[in-house]
Amino acid sequence: MSQESKLYPSFHNPLCLKLDRPLPDEIAVIGAGTIGPDIGYYLKSALPATKLFLVDVVEEPLRNAEKRISGYVQKAVDRRKLTEDQAHALLSNITYTMDYERIKGCDLVIEAATENIPLKKKIFEDVEALVGEETIITSNTSSIPADRIFGNMRRPERSTITHFFAPAWRSLPVEVIRWDRVSPEVVDYLFWLFAVTGKAPLITDNAICFMLDRVFDNWCNEAAYLLQHASASQIDKVAEEFVFAGPFFVLNMANGNPIIIETNTLQMEEGAHYKPAHILGSVATWQTHRPGSKVDLPEELGALIRDRLLGILFSQSFDIIDRGIGTKEDLNFGCQIALGFRKGPFDIMREIGEGEIELIMTRFQRERPGFPVARQPFSTYQEFARNLIVDEMDGVVIITLRRPQAMNAISDEINNEILSVLKEHTDNPSVKGFVITGYGATAFSAGADIGKFPQTLGNKDAAIQYAKDSAEVQLFMDQMDKPIVAAINGMALGGGLEVALRCHGMVATKNAIFQFPEITLGILPGIGGCIVPYRRWPQEAAVFHEMICLARRITVKEAFDIGMVERIADDYAEMIREAVQEVHALQGKIQRVPDRPVAIPEITIPEEPKAGKLALSKEAISIVAKTIKAGAAADSFAEALEIGYRGSAEIACTEAAKEGISAFLEKRRPEFTK
Ligand code: COA
Repeated sequence: MSQESKLYPSFHNPLCLKLDRPLPDEIAVIGAGTIGPDIGYYLKSALPATKLFLVDVVEEPLRNAEKRISGYVQKAVDRRKLTEDQAHALLSNITYTMDYERIKGCDLVIEAATENIPLKKKIFEDVEALVGEETIITSNTSSIPADRIFGNMRRPERSTITHFFAPAWRSLPVEVIRWDRVSPEVVDYLFWLFAVTGKAPLITDNAICFMLDRVFDNWCNEAAYLLQHASASQIDKVAEEFVFAGPFFVLNMANGNPIIIETNTLQMEEGAHYKPAHILGSVATWQTHRPGSKVDLPEELGALIRDRLLGILFSQSFDIIDRGIGTKEDLNFGCQIALGFRKGPFDIMREIGEGEIELIMTRFQRERPGFPVARQPFSTYQEFARNLIVDEMDGVVIITLRRPQAMNAISDEINNEILSVLKEHTDNPSVKGFVITGYGATAFSAGADIGKFPQTLGNKDAAIQYAKDSAEVQLFMDQMDKPIVAAINGMALGGGLEVALRCHGMVATKNAIFQFPEITLGILPGIGGCIVPYRRWPQEAAVFHEMICLARRITVKEAFDIGMVERIADDYAEMIREAVQEVHALQGKIQRVPDRPVAIPEITIPEEPKAGKLALSKEAISIVAKTIKAGAAADSFAEALEIGYRGSAEIACTEAAKEGISAFLEKRRPEFTK
């Protein structure tokens, strides 16, 4: 078995798992001091009906935890992320207690109290004596391998490490450790549970510091060694090329020096080169700057720091992959969502090229002997999709868009990656077809990546080119003989909906919604959005007029009534199975988007067009209406698509587009003037 299939023996997408064990009714979090209340708040936000016991041996942290959680709730209400009723539900059924007896009925116990191994062991001995045989027991630690914590348990098969990242109520990743005595069912359950509750769980091996802290702790430790050459501020400044905040800024925020000393001391079991820098023990707060500030930095010094930081980053990344501690996909993704890297380590390597990696690693080995080096050719570490995970079920390839930090918005890279998976399996006779779905329970995809749009604003040629490049994957789908079915697990918006509409079938969960919000950005759906729905379901043209011109969202029920969605599933796992069945049902029965023109009703625009409370741009709507009409009248589908691309280019040159896109990126409401 490959290292990767040892970590992921069934699915890479946790929500594909279909498990018998239900969501927990009662959860205990032990430790109210540091990360415990944040874990509790996350769990109650996702599972408001669940009873939560927050346990500590001292009264004061419990009182503080209660204040912290109430504060979070109040903030969420103020920001309209929660209604008063939701806030009430979230705050009910939380018990802050020093009485361990209260956790007796819990289905899940998460310890987040201490990094002291004897104390952890004692806690688990007590917990095991109290709870039922089926209770899952986990520990939140950033470094200690599972066997050292759970080795003496009566039933170690129900125990593992679940490593959260700060702030645990918001940070997406959780490392779930697969160690040799935990049962596969428990790992699967935790993997699934965290995904259902909105996290991005990553399965990692039971190595000291697991996967992501091997990167983070050594990155910080190396920064501390670099203080021989430069100031904390200078080092942070160089690091900012790769991370949103430099290591010293982060250490200050997290009071992290003692943690680095502890974790790197533990890593010395793998060699003396991991030794923590002495200075970490004598400084409480580093003198550094707010990220983004200007800092004086001689060029040569900057280059020295950069090479050393990249040296440690690459060394750890190679080692994690070579030892099978984590997968390339997870490491690259995890560094971005957990550690604030702007790009994953393998993206940085790809960008700088093999020649520079070689130079950096040669120098790093000379200056820091002992650290791991690449055991495979550099190019091997590049062989993976950054934003997709790929699974297989009954001869069907399941492609999951995994970019939850941007609601699975579709970037150019994602488009290319989808295309390459489709091409890779097209001629493979054992593959019957494809399912495309989104990661997590919220969004299939929130559309095309709006971050890319400013480059096309005001530039017709660039906008047309962007539309055509993005359309490549859909044009490929149009001519495929193997069925491809969209499994809509939540919001399907804009460019995401355009991809789904080009699939040969659609299934969805009960919470799915469908919307073209483009007009609220002053633009239009240019990759077939103004064309395909009319040709596929011409009798519903009036609904599409409202969807495209006024951003009306439709529910899954409406989408089903229209005929867009073939089946509605109760949950994600069911949806995937329905989609796989649909692929089998569509063998040899694919229907192409019709070529012939379609007659559609007039588009009537209200005097004061609005989407909800937002006043829309009349100028933009008139371009949309013109595009829809011309697209419907076009003699062929190909010609209609061209009209769509041209419409998107025309609208990209309006004031409305400029205002709409800027407003989204500046997180404000747009104000359209005409
Ligand atoms: N492109 C790029 N990033 C996107 C995105 C898109 N289409 N949709 C969402 N995101 C990003 C947000 O910028 C945000 O990133 P940040 O945390 O770095 O700021 C993150 O995803 C979460 O989105 P947020 O808006 O904070 O979540 P929300 O729950 O408040 O709202 C939506 C969710 C989907 C309603 C909102 O994100 C939205 O309106 N997105 C744009 C949808 C759209 O117009 N799509 C059509 C484009 S073709």
